[in-house]
Amino acid sequence: MEEAETTLFKFKGYYFKSELIDVNFVENLDDFEIRDDDVFIITYPKSGTIWTQQLLSLIYFEEHRKRTANVDTIDYVPFLEYKFRLQIHFNKRPSPRLFCSHIPYYLAPRGLKKKKAKLIYVYRNPKDVLCSYFHFSNMLGSFKSTANIEEFMKDFLEGKVVGSLWFDHIKGWYEHKSHFNIQFIMYEDMKKDLRSSILRVCKFLGKKLNEEEVDAVMRQATFENMKSDPLANYTTILRTSAEHLKNYEIFLRKGTIGDWKNHMTVEQNERFDKIFQREMKDFPLKFIWDINEE
Ligand code: PPS
Repeated sequence: MEEAETTLFKFKGYYFKSELIDVNFVENLDDFEIRDDDVFIITYPKSGTIWTQQLLSLIYFEEHRKRTANVDTIDYVPFLEYKFRLQIHFNKRPSPRLFCSHIPYYLAPRGLKKKKAKLIYVYRNPKDVLCSYFHFSNMLGSFKSTANIEEFMKDFLEGKVVGSLWFDHIKGWYEHKSHFNIQFIMYEDMKKDLRSSILRVCKFLGKKLNEEEVDAVMRQATFENMKSDPLANYTTILRTSAEHLKNYEIFLRKGTIGDWKNHMTVEQNERFDKIFQREMKDFPLKFIWDINEE
């Protein structure tokens, strides 16, 4: 059996991380009961999930903003499909419930397709996603490691990774956006102007924060702050001591735009571009590939 096969679980054409799911739960996702005031962050892996979890925790919970509670962001905004904690009784959680998820549009619970709840889809340029994912997979023992970018790029472009094919994920959600109450947010916009992104998210969610509160959200959602904040940097979900030793950069590695330029060769970049142009032809959302790009 290939290494990839031991870490991936395929359901309806989509790859989940095998040991973190409850197969029965995944098979019955369609019936998962949605409340009107639920909020979901939807991402392809490595696109800004943890960052947005932190933002929503700060927006919704004053005690998180004021640092008076000792609660991990992953507990304020748990993954729908991945069980990082032993017991999560979603149906007992008080409203509004916040979730995050990597699922493709077609596995979304029925309630979401009826426009119940709000969804925030965060996307990031796929070359940076690829680089981030390459490092992440190699740092976490439970993921398939690859010798170099070339090897990882092959898996990524064939969709043989958790989250399956990046192109399918974003196109699927975007092309079916009219079925959902969904707002698309770009990682690079967050990076370039976090305040505007926070205000946009707040407007979509109907949350009114005063200046001081927005400042507190901004302050605690910077890369540097999150990196050194154990409540925000996912330290508590790391399983092995080896992972802990490297924890400072497993989830928060560089947090920048354009790191792909330090990883991909000219030839790899051209190959990627050709596939991107073919797959994303006529796709209306813009992407930012460089920190200096407007
Ligand atoms: S995961 O494992 O799928 O949940 O990963 P995800 O959180 O989606 O993506 C991880 C990348 O997001 C970067 N990140 C940030 N960038 C800028 N500012 C902040 N505050 C921030 N928080 C997380 C993180 O560093 C990963 O990107 P890379 O390029 O690897 O650094």
